[in-house]
Amino acid sequence: MSSLASLKNHQVRLAKRPVGLPTSDVWQFTEEAVADPGPGGIVVKTLALSIDPAMRGWMNEGKSYIPPVELGAVMRAGGIGRIVLSHNENYKEGDIVIGGLDVQEYSSFPEKSIKRSGVTKVDLRVGSETQWLNVLGMPGMTAYFGLMDIGQPNLTKAGETVVVSGAAGAVGQTVGQLAKIKGCRVVGIAGGPEKCNWVVNELGFDACIDYKTGSVKDGLKQHCPEGVDVYFDNVGGEILDTVLTRINKKARIIICGAISQYNNTTAVNGPKNYLSLLVNRARMEGMVVFDYADRYHLAVAEMAGYLKQGKMKSKEDVVSGIQKFPEALNMLFEGKNFGKLVLRVASE
Ligand SMILES: NC(=O)c1ccc[n+]([C@@H]2O[C@H](COP(=O)([O-])OP(=O)(O)OC[C@H]3O[C@@H](n4cnc5c(N)ncnc54)[C@H](OP(=O)(O)O)[C@@H]3O)[C@@H](O)[C@H]2O)c1
Repeated sequence: MSSLASLKNHQVRLAKRPVGLPTSDVWQFTEEAVADPGPGGIVVKTLALSIDPAMRGWMNEGKSYIPPVELGAVMRAGGIGRIVLSHNENYKEGDIVIGGLDVQEYSSFPEKSIKRSGVTKVDLRVGSETQWLNVLGMPGMTAYFGLMDIGQPNLTKAGETVVVSGAAGAVGQTVGQLAKIKGCRVVGIAGGPEKCNWVVNELGFDACIDYKTGSVKDGLKQHCPEGVDVYFDNVGGEILDTVLTRINKKARIIICGAISQYNNTTAVNGPKNYLSLLVNRARMEGMVVFDYADRYHLAVAEMAGYLKQGKMKSKEDVVSGIQKFPEALNMLFEGKNFGKLVLRVASE
């Protein structure tokens, strides 16, 4: 590689905390030299970044499962990249890694921060760069452990009905396909006919409710005549509240996310129908994917097998150019992404 001093690192930093949907003034674009990682360290060139709804939460002040991004800091992001400099015998130049690369072109990791940043070598023969950010990456792990550990399909009987919202997104597409593989009936909820047609006709869901053009309540009555055993909730708000009215005894509800609430400037709109949990002896449980990190390798092996056998498909929606980060992030909240949203930063 050319010397570190000659490389320019373009970055996107958090300049201000947003109120509501992030506006362009919350971001600052900077350029600086790539820092020397020191003995035992590595430098990674970013190839692609995972654009995630959780980023919106990380921009807020306050206690969460992870500290907020500090003002002035490079925006936090997971990504995939290539090692372009290594002072560490465990990593070779040319190795492909995933990890906390943040929204920048190069990440310099001193030795002690390599593991802490989740930097892990991956094999592009197992999955493509974008699949490592999707089915084989964080969203896929979320789908796998949320469904299998908390949703526990087939806990009581075969052929249970699983409903998943955000069905055509990163997590949702994998939840639905995995639930089908596990022998469940699967009903998606997504915005618009194109997304709904795709999850039914391409991914093999049994049905999909278009919440933008129809009533979720009517859709659930029509497509879940036996009720809902597992609800994988990616969106929260009114959709969660409506699904609560259709759950079965001993239903499991996975609180994975609540994207409908992330840009609220007023209090979160929580479920009014929560007493349905009492009546149905049901369970609603939150999950954070990072808690399962020590088991990712098992889920990756299983999911890679499904990809190879053609039992699982993966769709990624790729936006190119680091300068497009602000608009890419907002696409998630406007429903403009179709599949896992990825920001391509460099081609090689
Ligand atoms: N707990 C965890 O560890 C964990 C890990 C990863 C992700 N998550 C959560 O999982 C959820 C899905 O994440 P993802 O990465 O897979 O995103 P995604 O589904 O790929 O993208 C977000 C989608 O949410 C839908 N959406 C946006 N605003 C909405 C609204 N007001 N009401 C209903 N739907 C809305 C849009 O699809 P439509 O066009 O269909 O509306 C949009 O395309 C998010 O809530 C995220 O925070 C949690």
